[in-house]
Amino acid sequence: MRRGSIVRITIYGVLAGILASLVAVLVPWLPTSASEQMDRIEFTFWFTTVICIAVFSVVAAVIVYSILNFRVPLDDETDGPPIHGHTGLEIVWTAVPAVLVTAISIVSAIVLAKNDDTGPNPIRIAVTAQQFSWRFAYPGDAKFTSGQLVLPVNETVKLTLRSLDVIHSFWVPEFGQKSDAVPGIETTLVITPNRTGEFALVCTELCGLGHATMRSGVRVVDRAQFEKFVAGPAKPAGAETSGKAVFTTAGCGACHAFTPAGTDAQVGPNLDKIDPGGRPLEDFVRESIVDPNANIVQGYQPNVMPGTFESSLSDEQLDALVQYLVEGQQ
Ligand code: CUA
Repeated sequence: MRRGSIVRITIYGVLAGILASLVAVLVPWLPTSASEQMDRIEFTFWFTTVICIAVFSVVAAVIVYSILNFRVPLDDETDGPPIHGHTGLEIVWTAVPAVLVTAISIVSAIVLAKNDDTGPNPIRIAVTAQQFSWRFAYPGDAKFTSGQLVLPVNETVKLTLRSLDVIHSFWVPEFGQKSDAVPGIETTLVITPNRTGEFALVCTELCGLGHATMRSGVRVVDRAQFEKFVAGPAKPAGAETSGKAVFTTAGCGACHAFTPAGTDAQVGPNLDKIDPGGRPLEDFVRESIVDPNANIVQGYQPNVMPGTFESSLSDEQLDALVQYLVEGQQ
């Protein structure tokens, strides 16, 4: 090949590489990382991207050169010269991709192994997913549970995920990983947050009518704030069993509009004006919580609301929730 051709192919390759690099760098493909695991995933992402850009540059350069140099006149219908292959080239285009793909596999395997490693003493938080809410049980004497996920910065947390009904999936984009919550088994997810801030946990598995509302707040705080949170709220006598707290923790607001709680979801009936159909309001409300299919409001479907609250709420919590709803009637 003439020297001029090599120079031209090289120029095309460099231009293609610059173009692809700009697309890679200027478009915000990934959220800003907030965990060690996400940092490793980003490394894998960029490692692979650099390889892809190199391959793209070579292919693009050869294609552009060929299009510009080997065009035939429109009226030339002859065949090109027969070619019997090129052993050297074939070895190169088999060996180079094999090496690159192997390199990506090795990097990925290392990252996967590291991202599953909890270290000697992780903080364990039990996550319960349920249509359409998340609940978190924290370690410690207080046995504190909350609808919000609060994590200490720079410490490794091991989440164990359970589902009470259908398959849900835990995803905080800034933490980089997803894990399904599957009924009947326990799955895990390791997170080491390395940046304080507020993030959003979203359910990323279509799980029913309220799927889009199955969101929860995540806060990454320093160790002292975490310990204060896990110790439970400074209780003005029974705060944890206040009706409003139960409403929030049980995830009622993900599906129901209720003005005193400030929720406006439309998945289930509005709770501001409950029509007990001539029965005592309190009985009706209680029955509707523990046995949601007993009274289906016109225009709504049975089997949407979970029937698990009788077992997941304590008697005290259930009483408080019923009172809260009854007193909140407009
Ligand atoms: Cu739970 Cu989607």
